[in-house]
Amino acid sequence: MLARPLQLGPVTLETNLLLAPIAGWCELAWRETCRSMGGVGLACTDLLSPQGLICGSEATADLARTSEFDQPIGMQLYGGDPQALADGARWCADHGATVVDINMGCPVDKVCKKEGGSQLMRSPELAQRIAQAVRQALPDSIPLTAKMRLGWTEADAERNCAGALAVSLARVGVCGITVHGRTTEQLFRGACRREGIRRVVEAVGEATGDAGAGGVPVIGNGDVRSAKDAVEMMQETGCAGVMIGRGSFARPWVFREAWEAQLALREGRTPEDREPSEDEKLDLVLAFFARLREYRSEAHAMHVIRQKISWLGKGINKSHCRSLKDTVRSAKTPGQVIEAVEAWRAGAPARA
Ligand SMILES: Cc1cc2nc3c(=O)[nH]c(=O)nc-3n(C[C@H](O)[C@H](O)[C@H](O)COP(=O)(O)O)c2cc1C
Repeated sequence: MLARPLQLGPVTLETNLLLAPIAGWCELAWRETCRSMGGVGLACTDLLSPQGLICGSEATADLARTSEFDQPIGMQLYGGDPQALADGARWCADHGATVVDINMGCPVDKVCKKEGGSQLMRSPELAQRIAQAVRQALPDSIPLTAKMRLGWTEADAERNCAGALAVSLARVGVCGITVHGRTTEQLFRGACRREGIRRVVEAVGEATGDAGAGGVPVIGNGDVRSAKDAVEMMQETGCAGVMIGRGSFARPWVFREAWEAQLALREGRTPEDREPSEDEKLDLVLAFFARLREYRSEAHAMHVIRQKISWLGKGINKSHCRSLKDTVRSAKTPGQVIEAVEAWRAGAPARA
């Protein structure tokens, strides 16, 4: 499956690499920043409340905001009410979604208490009814996908609960399954278990056929931080695509590196170095900041850049980016953020 564009129902993505929904990160400004680096086949909004979409909540609208450049876009819904999710899906279809995804993996109490997120892995019949209702609400041109974990408990993972759920969802028209290789009880502890993802790939492959021949593709997710990790995820699980979340924080160019690594392997050559220069990385920080200001507010942009500069700095220069991080974090105005980046650029190589 290396270097094959991912097919989700009627939609062909340019690559098989997806930017994961990460609440608090994956707003429009970040999605565009990752896309600008190349290699992103699909990016997804953070989880959206269908009720928030329908009643016009400003906070939900901020999360669902998209643009011409932000294509193709997955919109992720959560909840446990089939009708509400179907209404939410219709809203997404009317507001530019390329793909609609149902969250079946979120472990957060607030989400699970409403029968949504990972709780759906414990109620597979409800999960299937939701998928059916959402599928019926969407036009045929918009594929429906679901994102899940290996199960709630270790015992669930052992009996391949995710594989069974994925197959039952495929029966009602879900045409892509993302699996994060941890259980709900694990939260983010321990390592992602690729053998668990492999078992889901096998179950879905048996039920729907090979993903390369029209079967439902399974997308592997968890702890992919480099091109090498992405290739290993595919080789060890047989998954058709890879979703990357936290691995993009410091290295939003990981998608283009991972695509290049796949192409090179397929063509039997050494991968080209796709790491951006330090200047390009600094431009990327400034472009991200400019997008935050354009799409949200100055106050939001300042909050986000101060919070995320640690991650972004790690990608710029692992060992000595301290002064950049400190000056951005103590900036009081957007002008000071930009000055801090430019001063750091001009001060090379004598930087702390
Ligand atoms: C802070 C945080 C927020 C997340 N928000 C979402 C979300 O809104 N929807 C979702 O499906 N998964 C969410 N996830 C899970 C990620 O999409 C992904 O499955 C997980 O982080 C493992 O992949 P990674 O190791 O590549 O980050 C979140 C994870 C983190 C750490």
